[in-house]
Amino acid sequence: MTDSTIPRRKKRRNTATPENRNGRKNGHRTNGQIVKSDGLDGAVKQALSRPVKPKATLQRTTFCTPREMDFFSEKELTTQTGHDPEDWPLVFVKEVIDNALDACEEADQPPSINISADATGISVEDNGPGLPESTLRATLDFTVRASNREAYVSPCRGAQGNALMTLLAMPVVIDPDDGRLIVEAHGKRHTITCSADPITQRAVVHDDVSDVPKCKKRRPARGTRKQALSSGTKVRIQWGEIEMTYLDHCLWPFGPEGLSPACKPSFFERFLAIIEGFALFNPHATFRLDWFGEKYAWDATDPAWEKWKPNKPTSTHWYEGRHLERLIGAYITHDRDAGTDRLVSDLVVEFDGLTGSQKRSKVLDETDLRRVRLSEFVVGGRLDTKRIGKLLASMQRHTRTVKSRRLGIIGEDHLKARLLAMGVQPESFRYSRKTSKEGLPWVLESAFGWLGNDSPDRRRIYSGANWSAAIKNPFRSFGTTGEGLETALSDMRATRNEPIVFVLHLAHPRVEYTDRGKSALVMGGAA
Ligand SMILES: Nc1ncnc2c1ncn2[C@@H]1O[C@H](COP(=O)(O)OP(=O)(O)O)[C@@H](O)[C@H]1O
Ligand SMILES: [Mg+2]
Repeated sequence: MTDSTIPRRKKRRNTATPENRNGRKNGHRTNGQIVKSDGLDGAVKQALSRPVKPKATLQRTTFCTPREMDFFSEKELTTQTGHDPEDWPLVFVKEVIDNALDACEEADQPPSINISADATGISVEDNGPGLPESTLRATLDFTVRASNREAYVSPCRGAQGNALMTLLAMPVVIDPDDGRLIVEAHGKRHTITCSADPITQRAVVHDDVSDVPKCKKRRPARGTRKQALSSGTKVRIQWGEIEMTYLDHCLWPFGPEGLSPACKPSFFERFLAIIEGFALFNPHATFRLDWFGEKYAWDATDPAWEKWKPNKPTSTHWYEGRHLERLIGAYITHDRDAGTDRLVSDLVVEFDGLTGSQKRSKVLDETDLRRVRLSEFVVGGRLDTKRIGKLLASMQRHTRTVKSRRLGIIGEDHLKARLLAMGVQPESFRYSRKTSKEGLPWVLESAFGWLGNDSPDRRRIYSGANWSAAIKNPFRSFGTTGEGLETALSDMRATRNEPIVFVLHLAHPRVEYTDRGKSALVMGGAA
């Protein structure tokens, strides 16, 4: 399908000038140099015979542009998210589900998440405690990151601390007239539009606040506690309706392919795969999807399922000196802004195994940090890395390492139930689990099933880390030769055209990615 066959409301502007479009103006380009083509000899001679005038020079001014503009163009937002606009709906749904699951787990609430997609937007609604207004306000400030995860080392879903920010800018970039993000929490609806001031290059954010109509009713999912009607958070990315349709399929403003069923896998299949991924990795969560009126559901198989929750103290053994320095630096800045300065003991008490006073006292005495305040780690404008290193070593000496199992095991029963529901033949189901024996704890689980000869499906791979579904397979490269998951599967004759389902999940306290799009994991000995 070509761009011209798709009725699009807005065409992306081609910003290339005639000069930079074909790479030349008056002459041709050879190895990056402009070579004048002809008729110059005479002109050069004439110029040399004239008296020499002083050359006009440009005294350049150094302009400082706020980094806020990093969010307000298609190119910049592609860099920030690590994905092209075509994939932004997937980025939206992944990031918002990550946040929703985290929030529910922190509130000890089995997550129940409703996702819906229609002609003018995508919504994700959770049954958590509700996004605090102060956090929302902080994310509207494009000059800072607002996150309660980023500075801690733990097996958590998303920790970049700028997801909400990119989601705020997304609707504006794809639809400058009608794009908006709508956040409902604590009985208030925030209709947020943003733009960039073309002169000052600063973000201009409008937050239109109204009351959420009271009649709204949520049916709690099986096993969930009854919540007040106003509880939870609903996030909607919205744009103006595109009136035209293509082959009875509604169009979205994200790219030329839109929702065309002609692409394989179709956009819907990719969207569905993200939600299936979350349903595979989260036995305690219930998901419902309403895709243009078509309904899908994944009920929790075990609402009481346990994992290392975001509100669980982190382990000192997951930190290296640089991580603890980052955390201490973040606390010092946070306290300074709030006009406070916490004691080192207030930091120590937050770690796994150090909540009791006995061990805490041992650490503080051993390091001579009793009654010392965090700001005292700053010496001559720098963090005292030696002293912080001693504190970390002492905390590690007085605490046990965390066994891999405590991170959380998705388990064979859950994965089998989900795979059989997808149509996998029961006798073909296989499950395997590996855990680390030393160093950082990790759990690598995989499941496999065959859909049968009659299945029209091709190979389906669901991969993810820390109970979050991946948009791109992050296990592209592993093993001594870096062959990656796809090659390994092909070697096992599970090639692209085989009707199989393969699931791979890694739980790890220090999952690191090589890129913003989270498409390549750094696994530190986890394969
Ligand atoms: N659905 C939600 N319910 C409650 N709090 C939320 C929700 N979504 C986001 N938050 C809060 O907003 C913060 C910023 O989210 P985000 O930009 O995704 O960064 P990160 O998830 O990396 O911390 C989160 O740290 C969390 O405190
Ligand atoms: Mg997040």
